Amino acid sequence: MNDKYINILGIETSCDETSAAVLQDGRDLLSHVISSQIKTHQKYGGVVPEVASREHILHLQGVVEQALEEAKMDFADLSGIAVTYGPGLVGSLLVGVAGAKAMAYAAGIPLLGINHLEGHIYANFLHNPELEFPLLALLVSGGHSHLVYFEGHGQYRVLGHTRDDAAGEALDKVARTLGLGYPGGPYIQKAALEGNPRAFEFPRAMLEPGSLDFSFSGVKSAVLNTLNSARMKGETVKVEDVAASFQEAIVDVLVRKTLLALEKTNAPTLVLAGGVAANTLLRERLTGESQKRGIAFHYPPPILCTDNGAMIATAGYYRYLAKDYAPWDLNAIPGLSLV
Ligand code: KG4
Ligand code: ZN
Repeated sequence: MNDKYINILGIETSCDETSAAVLQDGRDLLSHVISSQIKTHQKYGGVVPEVASREHILHLQGVVEQALEEAKMDFADLSGIAVTYGPGLVGSLLVGVAGAKAMAYAAGIPLLGINHLEGHIYANFLHNPELEFPLLALLVSGGHSHLVYFEGHGQYRVLGHTRDDAAGEALDKVARTLGLGYPGGPYIQKAALEGNPRAFEFPRAMLEPGSLDFSFSGVKSAVLNTLNSARMKGETVKVEDVAASFQEAIVDVLVRKTLLALEKTNAPTLVLAGGVAANTLLRERLTGESQKRGIAFHYPPPILCTDNGAMIATAGYYRYLAKDYAPWDLNAIPGLSLV
């Protein structure tokens, strides 16, 4: 083992990306390999779990070898191996967990079990290691929409979460109905550029006064109803207008709830995380609102917003520093939450 540097190999296989990265001292990303299955799943309009697991089995070893090769390392140079153990698709998670266990055990180094949601938030520490606590995180991905208040590494409180669909899930479902492709977020964003965000007034679910929870199933259904009734009347709707108005409604709710959470917590710093954090409108709106309030706002580059091994290596680095190692019987937990 290398005593001079802390080298963490991060492995991510929770959904449809097989990814591995080598991170040195929590800030130098020496390699980052992402093997995406998007093309495989695109023809089905969403991720097929069984196919995803099999693809991870096919690619995990090659992706890890490439990550080590690009970092000019072998297992003997590593300090620990971090792996996502939940939440996610059980078969996909098991491939990563079993692989990481075998590698860490054989190399005689600690195994670090990482919550995928924490991983997304920790992408911000890779991009900006000087980030200070306390901070508020808006985590918006395909499966989750959370507002989380962090007081320190591993010390956090969930202030709000979605009661039904996640923001990304709603974007993906509407995109599919509009015939725009999978995953939907980037397609909605692209179509919205050519549309009018005020063409349709889609509902914004704010829930009870003061609530920091989200609900996106209502706005999703409103869009689907609009499209259905237009079809039944033989009317055509401009897809770009629907995309722009829908994106506007989602971003509006995310921003309003985030501002409310900032007000309630007095957090001086805001970070954005998860696949939907790649959305340009969301980034722009939160940048403007944070500036007005003197709040430091950070977000990772798009490649670190969607699923990746670098964010898992980063979360693993802080867990390694805390000597918070995973047991050898670490299991995949598909419904793992943030607590
Ligand atoms: O974090 P992620 O890669 O996977 C999960 O952990 O779920 O998030 C995937 C989600 C998908 O719903 C996708 O449509 C959305 O992130 N997404 C975006 C954008 N890029 C990805 N949503 C809006 N705008 C984008 N540019
Ligand atoms: Zn994710």
